[in-house]
Formats: sequence, C-alpha cells, structure tokens
Amino acid sequence: MTIRFAHVNKSYGQVDALRDLDLEVDGGELLALVGPSGCGKSTALRVLAGLERPTSGRVLVDDRDVTDMPPHRRDVAMVFQDLALYPHMTVRDNVAFGPRIRREPTDTVRDRIDKVVHQLGIEGVIERYPDQLSGGQRQRVALARAMVRAPQAYLMDEPLSDLDAQLRMRARTEIVELHRAIGATTIYVTHDQAEAMTMGDRIAVLVEGRLQQVGTPAQVYDEPVNVSVAGFLGSPPMNLVPGGGVLGGEPDTIIGVRPEDLLVDAEPSGADFTAHVSVVESLGSETVLLLVCQDGTRLALRTPPRSPFRPGRELRLVVADGRRHIFGAADGRRRLTGR
Ligand SMILES: Nc1ncnc2c1ncn2[C@@H]1O[C@H](COP(=O)(O)OP(=O)(O)OP(=O)(O)O)[C@@H](O)[C@H]1O
Ligand SMILES: [Mg+2]
Repeated sequence: MTIRFAHVNKSYGQVDALRDLDLEVDGGELLALVGPSGCGKSTALRVLAGLERPTSGRVLVDDRDVTDMPPHRRDVAMVFQDLALYPHMTVRDNVAFGPRIRREPTDTVRDRIDKVVHQLGIEGVIERYPDQLSGGQRQRVALARAMVRAPQAYLMDEPLSDLDAQLRMRARTEIVELHRAIGATTIYVTHDQAEAMTMGDRIAVLVEGRLQQVGTPAQVYDEPVNVSVAGFLGSPPMNLVPGGGVLGGEPDTIIGVRPEDLLVDAEPSGADFTAHVSVVESLGSETVLLLVCQDGTRLALRTPPRSPFRPGRELRLVVADGRRHIFGAADGRRRLTGR
C-alpha cells in the first residue's frame, strides 16, 4: 500500500499542527517520522487513519483519495501513543477483538494470536485485565492487537515509549523483523532519533508542522538540509557555531561539526584551535567531552570509551577532513559540506 499526504494542512484554531505536508510512503516501506514534541507527528497519523479531517489537502492510499473515507474503511491499524485497551476485557480478548468482530475463522485467528503473543513475550499475562498490567505490558498488548489484524498498513505512534531500555530494544528489533516478514507499509512515529535511525528505511523529519527532510538515515544524518535537522539528529547533536568563530567560516554562515568529527590533535602544528575539558560524560561504550573554547563557545566531542582526558585539561582540536557543514545564517539552510 502506498500512502501520500498531498499538501495537507491541519489547524486547531490558532495552532497550525501540519503545514503543507507533502510526503509519499512507498509500498512495504518502514518510514520513521521524527521530530520534537508538538511538531505534528500524531496529527499526521490521525489524519491518515481518518480520525481527523485535514483543514486542506488530500490523503491518498494507492493513488485513491481517501480523505473523506471513514476510519474503519481504511485498511490501516493504528497503535496509539496513549493506548486505549478495553478495560473490561482480558489481554486475550483485547488482542482477539479485531478479528472477532470481522468474524474471521477462530482457528487461524488463535494461531496468529499465539504467535504474536509469544513474539511480544506477553504469554504470562494473557488472562489479566489491563489495570493489572504495567505500562510496558500494556504497550505490548496494544502492539499485539494491531499486529494480529494483518492490515495493509501500520501506523505506530510511539508504541514503545513506556518500555524500559532493554525491552524497548527487543521490541524495536521485533517490529523491524515483523515488518520484514509481513512487508506491510509502516509509519513509525518517535521523538527518539536513535530509534528512527535504527528502524527506518527512510526518515522524515518534521519540525513545527513542516516537513524538513526525507531520506535514508545516512543521508539525513550526513547531509542535513538545515540547522533544525542538524540539531535534532545525533546524540549529542551537531555542534553549531556562528561563522567566524572557532570552527571558522564566513560571518553570514553557521558552521556545524558532529561530535565524532571533532578530533583531538596529536600533532600540535595541525590544530585548528584549543579548548578546555569542562565535563566528562562516560557512557560505557563511548565518552562525551563537553568543551569550552577560549571565546566561550561550548562544544561536544565524542571519544572512544575510557578517555584519558579529565576536566580542566587543555586540548588541541581539528575538524575531520570534509566534515564541516556550512549553513546560511539567515535561513539556516545547508550550503555545502567542506573543509
Ligand atoms: N485537539 C487539539 N486541539 C488543539 N490543539 C491540538 C490538538 N491536538 C494537537 N494540538 C496541537 O497541535 C500540535 C501538534 O500536536 P501533535 O499531537 O501532532 O504533536 P506530536 O508531534 O505528536 O507531539 P508529541 O511528540 O508530544 O506526541 C501541538 O502544538 C498540539 O498542541
Ligand atoms: Mg504525539
């Protein structure tokens, strides 16, 4: 199933939640829709599912205009951010609800439910009621309910936000594997950029209701189209410094360098500038140094684990070859990548 938002606007009174959203999702693709809180992600999914009417613009599914079609006639399953399980039904009945009202044959439904329940590791709570579940378990039940439907498309709105880190990683892999097996078009909403980078075939970045960039994770990470995208993807995000500062560049530009492209220089002669280590954040698999330059500019630098540098230490720094991003200061748009 292909999906297209064609110049969709959605306003709630004074709030423009979506501004001229024009986006195509290919059949079978897993598109990660990311952006900061309030940027319009849930609104986009709700418009697509038919739960909201766009203020203007159209929604096309397989080239068919479905803008005026009621939700139940669109073959999409949505997993909500604030999940709504039926409180008076057990987990099993919640999961089986969709197939049951569509009167699907019980045998095949039972097999499918067993499989999904196993995949999501909720066998142990299958006879419980929603109020007897943890937040994470509830999320997995909601996910299971969408998965047994086997729709043409899945719309997932931060389905893993209540899970702890480990479960989240597992569920993330399961969704990707499931997607690969089923091949149903999936839009996966998250404000977690790491999740978007690892899961998405492509990433679409939304900021303040406006689509900023669509591309593969590598494209969007390596060549962000503007400072909003540059500053959103990556953890810590790209260092952005006004032109003419420590990172060089013309005064009418903003220079961006990712924390991993800022290198500690072993040869004193080659250094571009110096900075003092202010904070050392040891993250296990890597260390992030927060640096303060002579002129007060703050920068983040990513180093391998067990960094020998301590607060107060002066470092000589260079920018990795060709890893300087140049943006216009006035419009924030990318000009080029260069030295
Ligand atoms: N029913 C509503 N009435 C008025 N404003 C709304 C309504 N629903 C959403 N908004 C506003 O529209 C904007 C987009 O909201 P939306 O829920 O789509 O954001 P989001 O990207 O999903 O954010 P989050 O990551 O926090 O879930 C926000 O400014 C929000 O306050
Ligand atoms: Mg939301």
